[in-house]
Amino acid sequence: PTTGPLVVAVDGPAGSGKSSVSKAVARRLGFAYLDTGAAYRAFAWHAQHSGVELEDQASVVAALPTFDLAEATDPDHFTVRVGEHDVTAAIREPAVTGVVSLVARVPEVRAALTGIFRRLAAGTDKPGIVIEGRDITTVVAPDAPVRVLLTASEEVRMGRRSAELTGHSPEAVGEQLKARDRADSRVVDFMTAADGVTTVDSTELDFDETVDAVIAVIQSRTHSL
Ligand code: DC
Repeated sequence: PTTGPLVVAVDGPAGSGKSSVSKAVARRLGFAYLDTGAAYRAFAWHAQHSGVELEDQASVVAALPTFDLAEATDPDHFTVRVGEHDVTAAIREPAVTGVVSLVARVPEVRAALTGIFRRLAAGTDKPGIVIEGRDITTVVAPDAPVRVLLTASEEVRMGRRSAELTGHSPEAVGEQLKARDRADSRVVDFMTAADGVTTVDSTELDFDETVDAVIAVIQSRTHSL
């Protein structure tokens, strides 16, 4: 049998700490790290810069063949490129965050990105890869030996997000987060754990405790393999 990298699938809502926790877990284990939300953001950036009408799904799909994504999977050096452009910073701008749900809802986009994620995961030279997103435990890697849903109460998620974004009012951040969760949950259900997925609720945990909790899940799952 072929032995690929050990896949650790992590899903969760915005502000759950998913990205920073997944990155820290990957670092601790010497694994690769794949932020799938960054790829959706990069595609939204690409669609915008291709003059696509984002409300029009057919027009969004037409931008797929020219989407030339290069996303790093090193948890210590995270970069995203689209063609010649380094979009690492641009994809975090409100201009992208505000429209990414419009492209993420398109089935053809999800299928294309899922293919990219599977190829990236299979291609890592690390012993494992932490893949983080909204549909990793259910669609991208439903057979992964380790699948985790990272949650936190809405209050805690809003608090963490406003601490990250200085200069934004907590109310505005809260409204944005809720609007995005609403839009995103119409596409994939990332709030309930699918069969066999372990929930880690970080509401009462600090960052290091959350990382430890995810590592404990990985250890328990891999010992039983
Ligand atoms: O995790 P994030 O905020 O960077 O994700 C950006 C957007 O991409 C978010 O609105 C949901 C979408 N997304 C998705 O639909 N499926 C994924 N696996 C990851 C992200």
